[in-house]
Amino acid sequence: MFKPQNISDSDIALNYVDTLQIEDMNKKNKVPLNKKAFSTRAIHAGQEPDPHTGAVMTPITLSSTYAQSAPGEHKGYDYSRVSNPTRKALEICMSSLEEGTHAFACSSGVAASSLVFEFLKPGELLVAEKDLYGGSLRILTKILKPRGIHVQLMDLSDEDNILNIPKNTKMIWLESPTNPLMKLINIEKISTFTKKHNILLAVDNTFMSPFFQNPLQLGANIVVHSATKYLSGHSDIVAGIVITNEKELAEQLFFWSKSLGPVLPPFDSYLLLRSIKTLPVRMRRHEKNALELAHFLEKQKEVKKVLYPGLKSHPQYNLALKQMSGFGGMLSFYLHGGRKGAFKCLNSFQICTLAESLGGVESLVEHPASMTHASSPHPPAESLIRVSTGIEDIEDLKEDFSQALKGC
Ligand SMILES: Cc1ncc(COP(=O)(O)O)c(C=O)c1O
Repeated sequence: MFKPQNISDSDIALNYVDTLQIEDMNKKNKVPLNKKAFSTRAIHAGQEPDPHTGAVMTPITLSSTYAQSAPGEHKGYDYSRVSNPTRKALEICMSSLEEGTHAFACSSGVAASSLVFEFLKPGELLVAEKDLYGGSLRILTKILKPRGIHVQLMDLSDEDNILNIPKNTKMIWLESPTNPLMKLINIEKISTFTKKHNILLAVDNTFMSPFFQNPLQLGANIVVHSATKYLSGHSDIVAGIVITNEKELAEQLFFWSKSLGPVLPPFDSYLLLRSIKTLPVRMRRHEKNALELAHFLEKQKEVKKVLYPGLKSHPQYNLALKQMSGFGGMLSFYLHGGRKGAFKCLNSFQICTLAESLGGVESLVEHPASMTHASSPHPPAESLIRVSTGIEDIEDLKEDFSQALKGC
């Protein structure tokens, strides 16, 4: 469908072996890992014991270059910007978890998004959901637009709007649930439209992680993660991943990745592999705590409204049940006390930390209007607080919210 452009056969052939990721993995394993359950793949996909030493944990290969037996003859690696064994193990693991075929690990979530935006040329149209991570909006409005790429922001959570998407769109970019309003977008429905009109559909799946949602299975062409968040889980790595299940898109992404070099270093790749092993356990606990906290917040007199897809009061609760296999750990809530109440509350937490970012084991709270979404063209209300529910003891968390909310 999308023919790689301006790339010669030799550009691809040079290290094309590196993009044959899932095929590689299934050839190596006696039982194809892609037939195994998520938690088995999170621990084993791409991670064979080291054939030389038997080391169970994937070695960190720091070498930037690799010996060749004759010019152009090597063991699949020639230079670490192009491909690196530790990074490749991570990419195979992530391809497997997102049910894709190829993944590209990047130095941050925005580096991963930027790799995908390379598909857009001046004069082409990008349609994006308007409730989006602030940094993605900044790329759209302050980097892509000045380059002559047309950007149209729409409310894609309203299914009636899908038919209003211009047919000449090149790419649709969305997050579901959206950030910070926790609206859901019907990915399958949008993908029916994009397939009909030959539009690329890219989904930022950071909030759900591959454990709770697989956009490629719902018809998306490309999935992006800020791996800084749930995939890392410990707020100690900045990383991003792009995954696809289409060879033509993978060839193009591989070409840009090796040519532009936004790649993840070996040590961070190792840390991320280590974190992903516990992703299923962490996600279940994040969700359990978030659901209980959401119910608790709904009962507090200071709270005007709670936004969490696991609540029956969420207008798209039925879509959540259909599209996701869990509700995740993110929630937002409006206070009656406006900006003053929100600031008072945010300044009063004792266990939750006031900080940007999300997805770590520790609970984080923030004020989107003046922090993550301050430069958004549609900043959220001043009374809104966003919570990344951690995996602490839920009674301690409720107690912390209870004391922080007093008088807000
Ligand atoms: C949903 C979402 N996408 C992308 C990003 C960007 O990721 P990074 O900070 O790893 O560059 C973020 C960061 O907060 C995010 O929340």
